[in-house]
Amino acid sequence: MLFGRTTLSKFVIEHTRGQHSEMGALLIDVAAAVKTISAQVGKGALSGVSGALDVTNIQGEVQKKIDVLANEALLRHCEWGGQLAGMASEEMDTPYQIPEQFPRGRYLLIFDPLDGSSNSDVNVSVGTIFSIFSRFTAGDAEDADFLRPGTEQVAAGYAIYGPCTMLVLTVGTGTHGFTLDRESGNFILTHPDIRVPTETREFAINSSNERFWEPPVQRYVSECKAGKSGVRGADFNMRWIASMVAEVHRILMRGGIFMYPKDNKDPAKPGRLRLMYEANPMAMLIEQAGGAASTGRQRILDVAPEELHQRVPVILGSREEVERLVRYHQEYDTGADRPFVSPLFSERSLFRD
Ligand code: F6P
Repeated sequence: MLFGRTTLSKFVIEHTRGQHSEMGALLIDVAAAVKTISAQVGKGALSGVSGALDVTNIQGEVQKKIDVLANEALLRHCEWGGQLAGMASEEMDTPYQIPEQFPRGRYLLIFDPLDGSSNSDVNVSVGTIFSIFSRFTAGDAEDADFLRPGTEQVAAGYAIYGPCTMLVLTVGTGTHGFTLDRESGNFILTHPDIRVPTETREFAINSSNERFWEPPVQRYVSECKAGKSGVRGADFNMRWIASMVAEVHRILMRGGIFMYPKDNKDPAKPGRLRLMYEANPMAMLIEQAGGAASTGRQRILDVAPEELHQRVPVILGSREEVERLVRYHQEYDTGADRPFVSPLFSERSLFRD
């Protein structure tokens, strides 16, 4: 069916009427940037922008040419329209000031231009994550204007560059998925009102960090791995793509839990993922789809940011699983849980003496 489909433009115009009507134009600019990034990512090695630059970003991570290009795409597509007071990005140490020649608006755009970019060289799905806040006044944003809890986001979304490109968006009225029709160049609403299934038998975690996890996470994962023979009484699958966008997308489509929890690998870092442009937008999308998102000890959207690039533990996905793991944290913190016993050292284990 060629006509009568809901395009992203139609959707945002209809869903941002009234208080946030200017945000519709901003979302259309974000979508334009996403199409540019999608075209580049889709060229793979033919793009001429694969490989690393000889620089690291504020996170201490090696910047790739495609990271820089994706960052530029978002800045250029979104700076001119008069909706923004400022932008901030994973790839920039400090917020970006809207150039003199452009009008200022009342929104703030925060993004991770290419999340999971280490995967782009191996042709695995990567994505762009973004978050929008409104400010109550127009004019240039100060750095402190960006430090707002996730509950104040007015929109959040991600684009996933996989076998097809999709944009998944919330403006606070559910989570909706749009698929890029490469022939017409339009994003078409294909997944209205996504709901995260409540029951799940799939978990995602980088288990090479197991020895650094806190006991509640060790307990949860060991119970999943024990499967039918353990307290869960059911077998679980494990997945790890090392691309948060792909992981969250799978969870929105078929349920599951994603964890990048607090660990003691590097005591200076309370988690791996960034609050403002990874955890907050994903938490809003997941909550709007009926799931839950927590640090283990606090709802992610309630975390009061202290720094633009701050890290936070992330546990998100199907509500019942997230709530179970939050309960394990509470039991551990209050001393009410049973001590964790590794299956390797249990009664019938090889290592028991
Ligand atoms: O923050 C970037 C990111 O690539 C996420 O997309 C992903 O979930 C995580 O880091 C992967 O971490 P690791 O390299 O520990 O598997």
